[in-house]
Amino acid sequence: MDTDTEKKRILIVDDEFSICEVLAQFLKKDGYNVSMASNGEEAIGIIGRENIDMIISDIKMPGISGVDLLKRVKESAPSMPVLMTTGFPTLDTAIEALKLGAYDYMTKPFHLEEIGEKVRRAFNAKKLQEENLLFSKLVSLHEVTKELTATLEVHELNFKFLDYSMNMVKADGGALLLIDQTGKLAISETSGKHFSPEYWLGKIWVTLSRHVAQLHEPLLLTAASPPLIEDLPSIPPEAGSLICFPLKTASRVIGVLNLVRTKEHDFFSNLDLEIINVLASQASIAIENVRLYSNIRDNYLKTIRAFALAVEAKDEYTHGHSENVMKYTVVLAKHLGLPDHEIELVKYAGLLHDIGKIGISENILNKPGKLTVQEFEEIKKHPELGARIISDVPFLKSLVPMVLHHHEFYNGCGYPLKIAGNAIPFGARILSVADAFEAMTSDRPYRKSLSQEVAINILIEEQGKQFDPQVVKAFLEIIHAGKVSHGR
Ligand SMILES: [Fe+2]
Repeated sequence: MDTDTEKKRILIVDDEFSICEVLAQFLKKDGYNVSMASNGEEAIGIIGRENIDMIISDIKMPGISGVDLLKRVKESAPSMPVLMTTGFPTLDTAIEALKLGAYDYMTKPFHLEEIGEKVRRAFNAKKLQEENLLFSKLVSLHEVTKELTATLEVHELNFKFLDYSMNMVKADGGALLLIDQTGKLAISETSGKHFSPEYWLGKIWVTLSRHVAQLHEPLLLTAASPPLIEDLPSIPPEAGSLICFPLKTASRVIGVLNLVRTKEHDFFSNLDLEIINVLASQASIAIENVRLYSNIRDNYLKTIRAFALAVEAKDEYTHGHSENVMKYTVVLAKHLGLPDHEIELVKYAGLLHDIGKIGISENILNKPGKLTVQEFEEIKKHPELGARIISDVPFLKSLVPMVLHHHEFYNGCGYPLKIAGNAIPFGARILSVADAFEAMTSDRPYRKSLSQEVAINILIEEQGKQFDPQVVKAFLEIIHAGKVSHGR
């Protein structure tokens, strides 16, 4: 939509009817639409109802003066051009009007040509101002869309998208609706001090949202727009203007963004609609990607859980071990400040670290007494066996180093490769502490569980020997902070 091709509407405010008439005739001939008001109150009513592009107002009027009207207009619609007229010119009133944001000032009696010229100039100045605004908004749009596409968590992305949209077009309220698995539009996020989540369930909003989702086209409605859908008011009574925007990917509509500005503020413009267009097209792609990504991630986790359960099915004593190790590794990794994608890797490795036990005899795994040297040698094969199993699965490959090295000792006396210190992958060092603590505080075929205190003392004793001291320190901090407690 191009505002230039639409007729501009000018509101003339003057308590002298003849002046209104003469001005109106002249401006209509120049191609403008004209509304007239004989005082400030009437003018405010018209501004609330109609889409006014410029105001020409007398300064001296009974009731609300032209200067008061100017102040009110500038509060709610700072970019609205206002031309002031007066029959009693003083420098003070002129300066005051200009200070308050009037575009220009004319003294009566005026030449109509002079008015025509000032009106044109005011519109040109507004256009330039809008273009500058568009440019600055485009710069921030670029930043915002970059940030949106870098967000990988569903709720965070939805929240940011609504928040940015509201800020960019100065909306008073907003709601993001997404189409759920059953094909229905459901509220995902809402925002705005005076707009509760229930507000967006109102009939008008539900109908408008469905309407734009079906038509794949956005709506910009103002209090001045004619009714859009039969049996429905064109706009909610508390709103001055609204935008309903369908969120589209290449193949389908995935949701709707609703934005509202209250009556007290300027109407949304076509420029606002353009800004939302840019933002929405980027956000739609980002939302769809994050959804796909989280689906893949969920399936991935399900597969890994199935693997872990397959191992535990062989050994009733280790039931729940992998899940607990996973919980500890995640808390530890977060506490140690690992980036999100590494936390995720450590998490999966926690679940899967003993997958190699699938290849170890159940008789050895479940043996109640002490293991012979030979049996222990057999058990020691499970990290390499596990690494071999998962190295053939493309999406598990990145876990190989952690699974392979989860029994290495910090001092180099572990297995299978006897590597030491920082040569052991950090994830494996984390896993080692989590695994040991979980094992010590659980019953085993050959012993009862140790108390948490005893297990902690062993971790402390083994700092720098079996375990990385940095990881033990982090684990103790977590335990003291109450973030981890052992309980099955
Ligand atoms: Fe293990």
